[in-house]
Amino acid sequence: MSYEAQNTSIFMQVLKFSRYEPVGSRNGSLEGKRDGYEMVKISRDEIQRESPHIPRNIKNSSDLKVIENAISGNNIMGKAILAALSTAFGLTGGARFENLHRNHRPSTSTLSMMHYIPSHPVKDGNVGHQKHTDISSLTVLFTEQWGLQIRPPGSKEFGFVEPKKGQAIINVGDSLRFASGHTFQSCIHRVVPYDYTEHRYSVAYFLRAEDETMFQDSEGRYVTSRQWHDEKFLAFLASPADQAAAPSSLLLGGMQEDETDVYGLPQAKPVAIDTAKNSGVEVSAVEVSA
Ligand SMILES: [Fe+2]
Repeated sequence: MSYEAQNTSIFMQVLKFSRYEPVGSRNGSLEGKRDGYEMVKISRDEIQRESPHIPRNIKNSSDLKVIENAISGNNIMGKAILAALSTAFGLTGGARFENLHRNHRPSTSTLSMMHYIPSHPVKDGNVGHQKHTDISSLTVLFTEQWGLQIRPPGSKEFGFVEPKKGQAIINVGDSLRFASGHTFQSCIHRVVPYDYTEHRYSVAYFLRAEDETMFQDSEGRYVTSRQWHDEKFLAFLASPADQAAAPSSLLLGGMQEDETDVYGLPQAKPVAIDTAKNSGVEVSAVEVSA
């Protein structure tokens, strides 16, 4: 099946912003193999509807309330960070990043809950999650287990980000990169097994720009936020072969590929990160490069 035909056939899946994805829905950290996690995701727009379409994994109204609170709390946190970055950049009015993320405007902002199954990079097929950048402006990530690796701009090496209790990991995604005229750099990351016997759980809120926001992508194309989301989302779901046929700037948001990026056995080495002190929820990793 051609990449275009594959796109059409899975396009309806893309429209379901709140859904369950079983293990192997996307590509893993091993070349040519699928991922090693299952996921439930709930869209911010969906949960605000009168009769939201919610995956059946969410069993009762108190679970739903917890998710609703998580979405609203993460949304506030993400926008507070965007506002601080806008001020630091001297942006005013409609140009401020938070004003591209108004609450009443449609967006693809989503909360995802992920469960990585125990996996061994030599013995198992479904392992981790492939190297990529996020579609989002900011990703707010909570996890208690090791497994996230980032490759900081200019670095040739991936390193583990240490999970810290009560702290979120904040990554810059493509939408903020584009909104800043490519001044910010999308965080290149992947998930690989650290303890091969361990189940890993993470919760990520993807704060994405309003659907109609116009960006210039890394190819110089003018695309809406929604178009970038749909194109990249399809590339995420595509098979390794079909993904290889997609434009190379999609997966990394135009960030530089490096030949050393191929996943081997993980290194047990945390990345040195500046930690913002004295805040309720500390930011332990911000990929911000001016
Ligand atoms: Fe990601």
